[in-house]
Amino acid sequence: MRNKVTKAVFPVAGLGTRFLPATKSVPKEIMTLVDRPLVQYAIDEARAAGIKEFIFITSRGKSALEDYFDQSPILEQELRKKGKLDILEDLKSTNMESGAIAYMRQHKALGLGHAVWCARRLIGDEPFAVMLPDDVISAEKPCLQQMVEAYEETGGNMVAAMEVPYDKASSYGILDVKDDMGAMVSVKGMVEKPNVEDAPSNLAVIGRYILDPAVLRNLNKKQTGAGGEIQLTDAIAQEIDATGVYGYRFRGQRFDCGSKAGFLQATVAFGLARDDLKDDLRGFLDSVMQIENAAE
Ligand code: G1P
Repeated sequence: MRNKVTKAVFPVAGLGTRFLPATKSVPKEIMTLVDRPLVQYAIDEARAAGIKEFIFITSRGKSALEDYFDQSPILEQELRKKGKLDILEDLKSTNMESGAIAYMRQHKALGLGHAVWCARRLIGDEPFAVMLPDDVISAEKPCLQQMVEAYEETGGNMVAAMEVPYDKASSYGILDVKDDMGAMVSVKGMVEKPNVEDAPSNLAVIGRYILDPAVLRNLNKKQTGAGGEIQLTDAIAQEIDATGVYGYRFRGQRFDCGSKAGFLQATVAFGLARDDLKDDLRGFLDSVMQIENAAE
């Protein structure tokens, strides 16, 4: 029997400079998509995949994130008193069990690989997931759950993968594919943010990973890669001939909420998926498009 994946690492130490001035006082992960902070979508997805322990790699200025995961007894009491039971239920669904959540500070911004390495003692010697909350994935079956099911067959290391336009390859970790089996590919190489002309394919790594603890040992070497940072991609690539690396083409739509355009698109898409909002929002979007078209 393969070890179950029950721990997930959420690297949330980034400064969020692309969203300044908003992120001067609000951590990016707390910014709201419709009515839930970005990070809640990642937590919900992790829970659906069977994750029981949530490890956040934070940095200075992220205390609002820690507060968000606290229980809110006064708020709950008020809602109960006022009979606002649906809101109460929604609020309670975000509560985390005591001891299920841990925060670890990354003292220096040395890269994604370094952020994940900071969690090594909490992870120990078992497979674990990594989720980048900036990548929001809307899917019938949550992306990490799809991956956990596929991983039960393969073991090794698995990264979420998606075809991107070739001219965007330099923004991603890119896979060099050995065998393409459709939903799954086996990998013979991985490069972090290659020059467009050097990209081995246009199959990009998206922010969901299931990793063997050997990756943490590779990160012990603290080798720097693209951008002078300690890259997770490089530590995973070192496992290609050892524990094996697979790319998994998930079913679902990915939004890059690390960019303003992606965040806006996600807001519209998630708004349109909500029964309580979709009619108003669709009417509004139609009228905006009519005005746009008339102006052309
Ligand atoms: C990170 C990873 C990269 C991956 C990307 C997905 O890059 O380093 O391999 O393709 O996330 O969103 P970042 O976007 O943090 O620069």
